[in-house]
Amino acid sequence: MTKEYVELIYQGKTYKFPVILGTEGEKAFDISNLRQSTGGLITMDPGFANTGSCCSSITYMNGEKGILKYRGIPIEQLAKYSSFKETGYLLVNGALPTRKELNRFSVLLNDQSLVHEDMHTFFQNFPRGSHPMGILSSMVNALRGFYPELQTLEEEINITVTRLLSKIRTLAAMSYKISRGYSVVYPRPDLSYCANFLNMMFDNVVKPYHIDKDVVRALNVFWILHADHEQNCSTSAVRMVGSGRVNLYAAISAGIAALWGPLHGGANQAVIEMLAEIVERGDSVKTIIKKAKDKNDPYRLMGFGHRVYKTYDPRAKIMKEMCDKVLAKLDIHDSLLDIAKELEEVALNDDYFIERNLYPNVDFYSGIILRAIGIPTNMFTVMFAIGRLPGWIAQWKESMDGPNWKLQRPRQIFIGPPEKEYIPIDERK
Ligand code: CMC
Repeated sequence: MTKEYVELIYQGKTYKFPVILGTEGEKAFDISNLRQSTGGLITMDPGFANTGSCCSSITYMNGEKGILKYRGIPIEQLAKYSSFKETGYLLVNGALPTRKELNRFSVLLNDQSLVHEDMHTFFQNFPRGSHPMGILSSMVNALRGFYPELQTLEEEINITVTRLLSKIRTLAAMSYKISRGYSVVYPRPDLSYCANFLNMMFDNVVKPYHIDKDVVRALNVFWILHADHEQNCSTSAVRMVGSGRVNLYAAISAGIAALWGPLHGGANQAVIEMLAEIVERGDSVKTIIKKAKDKNDPYRLMGFGHRVYKTYDPRAKIMKEMCDKVLAKLDIHDSLLDIAKELEEVALNDDYFIERNLYPNVDFYSGIILRAIGIPTNMFTVMFAIGRLPGWIAQWKESMDGPNWKLQRPRQIFIGPPEKEYIPIDERK
């Protein structure tokens, strides 16, 4: 709290609301008693662009300056020095682990890496062509049936959390293998988190998978960059669903479903589809930019714009550099990268994009890295989900632990018809 307050004058009466100050100077005024004190007045903020739903000590982002930090550590440092496993630990537990803590965490992840054999049949019964995000969301929810509720919140946190973090990559790789009709590759305790995932995805009896340390590093960075992003759509879904005191699997399953949308995590798939379509149709970059600017056309430049970032997304900067490195290392020339760079250059010099502060976001270059690694396009958002899992868990944990825990339940202003009489069906016109 600060000594400042905001005054609201309503029907001649003045109401005062205290101003809250964040560590980085962010301010909010607390209206939690607005309705009671004013006799029913609520605020209206569709899309919640001006509404803080919680105080959080997990992630700080500054959309004007392009800053992103997890638990105070800049994303650039984590991308350079950390691993996804370590960053996941940092987010969930609040501090970087000691060597001993990290080793213990690895042991727990290995212990939890297998998926119940009965779950294989679930995969086989999804109709062909089911989207992997729908499958993942269902499978994560189904985990509760296989791993019943634990007694204490502490147990839930220690065991369910590592179980989820470990099993999500096994589930994702299994869904890929089964969807292709290939044999499942089991997790190996001798491999690191990321190498294990790649091996489960791509190893097969005919051609053993060669684990390339630069590809493993790229995957670590990809997942670190996705690990949390404060109160975005899917994280808010996790907090909201979790606020009903549902189990963690169900809350995460809701987060996965929310992430699926093309305006959120699904944008990484949408970007590649957009770029591929441009190449296929031979459209010029100029035509695409014109289409994206046309008010009468719903077409948008996917991978551009962000609700919070009004400058270059710091994750996109790292992703772009990583993209060049991975393609060079794997000796791949991807025409989609050429188109992406051309689109970026034209958009960043176009008044429409300049005036609206539209810059590339994390999804603009990430799909090109995933393609180079061999991940199929319809699995891109699953890759985002694996990366975002530590963030969702940290946010869920914070919301359950916190002193301000409350069932989340927004209000509305009703604009439908006032009371009407019920008309029996035969009398209706
Ligand atoms: N292409 C063309 N115009 C755009 C775009 C775009 N990608 N994004 C925003 N605009 C325009 C929009 O038409 C509007 O123009 P006007 O003021 O003339 O009506 C203005 O910019 C503001 O857009 P908005 O939709 O009100 O802004 P928002 O904050 O609600 O939208 C967004 C943010 C991410 C939904 C939007 O920028 C978008 O649809 N981008 C494309 C999808 C995408 O890349 N999503 C991934 C986001 S990053 C991953 C994640 O963290 O989830």
